[in-house]
Amino acid sequence: MMIHPVQLFDVESSTFTYILVADDEQSAVIIDPVERHWERDLAHLERLGLRLAYVLETHAHADHVTSAGKLRQLTGALAAAPAGCGIAPAELQLNDGDLIRFGADDTITVLHTPGHTAGSVSYVWRGNVFTGDTLLIDGCGRTDFQSGSADALYDSVVGKLFTLPEATRVWPGHDYKGQSVSTIGWEKRHNARLARRSKEDFVVLMAALNLPRPRLIDIAVPANQNLGLPHGA
Ligand code: FE2
Repeated sequence: MMIHPVQLFDVESSTFTYILVADDEQSAVIIDPVERHWERDLAHLERLGLRLAYVLETHAHADHVTSAGKLRQLTGALAAAPAGCGIAPAELQLNDGDLIRFGADDTITVLHTPGHTAGSVSYVWRGNVFTGDTLLIDGCGRTDFQSGSADALYDSVVGKLFTLPEATRVWPGHDYKGQSVSTIGWEKRHNARLARRSKEDFVVLMAALNLPRPRLIDIAVPANQNLGLPHGA
C-alpha cells in the first residue's frame, strides 16, 4: 500500500505536523506537534483509532512551542528527540542511524542533519523523509542561530539527503508559499538555494540573508527543551 502521512498545518508559524500511521493501522507517531493544536491532533488520533507510540521532534524550535510533553502525558506515548538538542526530558535521545520501531512492522531511520541547529535530525520512513528545517521546498532553514552552520547544512543536504532515492517524498517542517510536498529528485534539480550550487556560494548566500531574530526564540527554545511543559512540570 502507498502510504502518506497525515499532514497538518499551523497558520501562525507555518509549521507542518505529521502523523505517521503504521501499516497495521493501529499505531502512530507524530512529528513536531504544535502546542495550540494538541486537541486537533488528539482528535485525529481518536478519529482514526490510533494509539500514539512516540512524539518525535526534529529539533528545538525557535518559532513555536511544541505539544510533545502534553501529548505524552495524555496518551502515554514516549518522547523522542535528537540527542544534540538539549531536550533532556525526552525518553529517547536519538543519534544518527538509530531506528524507531512502531506498529507491527514499521521502522523510522534517524538521520543526523545538522546545520539549521547543531542537533537537527531528519526522519526516513517508507519512501518519505521528514526534513524539519534542514531542507524546505525550494529553500532551507536559516543557519544563523542555535549553533547553526551553513557549512554543515550544505553537507547534510547535499551529502546526505540528496543521496536518498530521487522518488523519496520530502515533507518539510515549514512552508511559507503554500506548498506541501516535494521529492528529493525535484529539490536536487530546482531548490533555489541548494541545487547545483557550490558549498562556497551557499555559505556566502546564507551569510547575506540578514534575517530578523525570531520573535519567540527566548520563550520557545527553553520551553521546547522541556517538551513544551512549564519548567518544574
Ligand atoms: Fe526551526
